[in-house]
Amino acid sequence: MSQVRLDRFLANAGLGTRSQVKELLRAGLVEVNGARAKRPEEKIDPDRDRIFCRGEEIIREESVCYMLNKPAGFLSATEDRYQPVVLDLLEEKERKGLFPVGRLDIDTEGLLLLTNDGALAHGLLSPRHHVDKTYRARVAGLVNEEDCRLFAGGLDIGEKKRTMPAFLRVLSVTEGETGPISETEITIQEGKFHQVKRMFAAVGKQVIYLKRTAMGGLLLDETLQKGEYRKLTREETERLRQYAGK
Ligand code: URA
Repeated sequence: MSQVRLDRFLANAGLGTRSQVKELLRAGLVEVNGARAKRPEEKIDPDRDRIFCRGEEIIREESVCYMLNKPAGFLSATEDRYQPVVLDLLEEKERKGLFPVGRLDIDTEGLLLLTNDGALAHGLLSPRHHVDKTYRARVAGLVNEEDCRLFAGGLDIGEKKRTMPAFLRVLSVTEGETGPISETEITIQEGKFHQVKRMFAAVGKQVIYLKRTAMGGLLLDETLQKGEYRKLTREETERLRQYAGK
C-alpha cells in the first residue's frame, strides 16, 4: 500500500473526524514507530509503520468497496435525522466504517460506491485524476448538436471556473405529452453539486431523470436491482485503484 496522511489513516481507523484526530495529535497521544507524532500531514505507510494512540496499536481495517444500485429517495450520506440514507440499504453487519464515495442527488439512481478506504475515495473524487463518471439523463426538450458542442467546450454554471469539457450524446428522442423528450448519455470528470442538472440548465433544459451508469472504468452491474449491492471483485478494485492513482 502506498503512503497516506496520518490524519486520514487515523480517521479511517475510526478514531474520529479529521478535526478530532488533529486534536489527538496536538495532545501528543499518537506515536509513529515510537516517536510522538504531531503533524496531521505526516505521511505513513500502513503496511510498515506502527501507529499507536493512547498506547494502543491501530491496526488498519481491510479496505472494502461495494457497488450499490442506488434507488431514488435515499440521501448519499451515512446518517440523517429525517431521511433514509444509502447505508440503510446495507445489512447492519456490513455497514461498519463505510461511507459513500461522493454524492448522488436524492432523486438520482444508479452506481454509487461505498467504501471504508478514505485514500481510494479521495483519489476517485479528486478532479486532478480526471475520473470519468457517465450518466443517462432524460431531458425535457430537444437536445441537439449545438448542446453537445457547448458541453464539449465547458459551460458556465455559476462557479468561478467553467466546467471541464463533457462528452454528451443523444441516444434517442421521443414525443412526450408536452413535447419532445431526449434520452442522452453524458460523461463528466468532475463532481460539482448538481453538476449534470446545472449543465443542462445552462443550455435552457431540464433533467427529468438521472442515473449513473459508470465510474472510474467500472460499469453498473445491471443485474443489481434498485437498492441491491455487491462487493467489488478483486479485478474491479484494481481497476478503480488505477483510476484513483492509489
Ligand atoms: N449531477 C447531478 O446533477 N446530480 C447527480 O446526482 C449527479 C450528477
